[in-house]
Amino acid sequence: MDRPVETLAPHVLIFPFPVQGHVNSMLKLAELLCLADFHVTFLVPDDTHDSLLRHTDVHKRFEHYARFRFQTISDGIPADRARSGTDFLSDLLNSLRNVMKPLFKELIRSNRLSCESNRPITCIITDGVMSFAIDLAEEMGIPIIYFRTISACSFWAYFCIPELIEAGELPFKGNDLDVPIQSIPGMEGFLRRRDLPSICRVGDLSNPDLQLISSETRQTTRPRGLVLNTFEDLEGPILSHIRTQMPNVYTIGPLHAHYKTRLAAAASSTTTTGTSSNSLLEEDRSCLTWLDEQPTQSVIYVSFGSLAIITKPQLMEFWHGLVNSGKRFLWIIRPDLVIGGDGEGHIEAELSEATKERGYMVGWAPQEEVLDHRAIGGFVTHSGWNSTLESIVAGVPMICWPYFLDQQTNSRFVGEVWKLGLDIKDICDRSKDPLE
Ligand code: UDX
Repeated sequence: MDRPVETLAPHVLIFPFPVQGHVNSMLKLAELLCLADFHVTFLVPDDTHDSLLRHTDVHKRFEHYARFRFQTISDGIPADRARSGTDFLSDLLNSLRNVMKPLFKELIRSNRLSCESNRPITCIITDGVMSFAIDLAEEMGIPIIYFRTISACSFWAYFCIPELIEAGELPFKGNDLDVPIQSIPGMEGFLRRRDLPSICRVGDLSNPDLQLISSETRQTTRPRGLVLNTFEDLEGPILSHIRTQMPNVYTIGPLHAHYKTRLAAAASSTTTTGTSSNSLLEEDRSCLTWLDEQPTQSVIYVSFGSLAIITKPQLMEFWHGLVNSGKRFLWIIRPDLVIGGDGEGHIEAELSEATKERGYMVGWAPQEEVLDHRAIGGFVTHSGWNSTLESIVAGVPMICWPYFLDQQTNSRFVGEVWKLGLDIKDICDRSKDPLE
């Protein structure tokens, strides 16, 4: 007699690096696997799980998938800690090693993750800085796949850090950030020092974040495969270089677009309802109503993602720049965006007048819907990879002002290789013309 289908469906454990940009893509992948009848256990810190439940209809969306469930784990970060900025990221990388790693090992070894039908984990999909998961998967004989939610170009730059060091291109000698980089195959001739991932700007090679991200990225040759949220027409040449190091590279991007199409198809046969937001922050949908009242392609959308933080002077430079442009603008001012708070300090009358007339500010927006709105004509972005892909798919040109990590490399490719926008990295001065 055939075994019931239940015992044949794979049980996948998905374990993202717990920040918005990674959780966003991984939860979309989880839902697509649910639609393919996989068992899925999605492992996130308590705080991330609470935010998802509080700010999205994720519980309603996933209740249709009997084989899906969340499993929470502590990330050791105090609940009242702002989850943004470089210090938070270093703390999170630390907690990954010291808190989540032992908890993860205990969860897997105790086999407490078997799903209802007692189906043990048959595959692990995890993020790119968790090589402890590879060690454990090998110990337990469980296949593991890496899903990196960043671009192929930035992944390849991270992967080549040892070659940069060997060639003497790291650490930088002198302050000239426009020195061209020669030892990353496929990026010769247009990549400069300033376009490398921001951790390369540290003066000292013993910097723990540089060491960790470089050594962790080199571990990517060990899993059964590497999944990237990109596509061959966009990053084919770089993907070919990556495949010289690890042949099993699978592109599933633009994931948010494929996800939308697949969900729409499923909606006709299931009762999935509501938006498919995976936001960890409360979305203010009033901006969509404001956009409805604006002329077509008249609005500049400004968002620096979920982790970037800026100083008050930087906030003022961008604000003056937007007002001086004479354009309408929709600006995402997250509660924790401005270091030291944007306060209600003195704002010049000209700024507040012009903002009343042409601007709209919210703490967090349904970004995919905003970028798809007919009123949007341009996107001032930090070049986070999800935002970059969403802008490309929506056909919105970008002005890129990267903050850290992979964003520096993404913005160079947007401006110099794909010609989809203007890279203004390292400039925050409204009197400077970035085209000069
Ligand atoms: C992080 C890193 O910073 C980024 O460099 C890396 O590529 C992915 O992980 P984040 O900074 O949050 O991501 O940027 P991004 O990748 O653009 O992800 C932000 C996500 O939040 C996007 O999917 C965007 O649609 C969403 N978003 C952003 C909203 O839903 N509302 C907003 O107001 C702003």
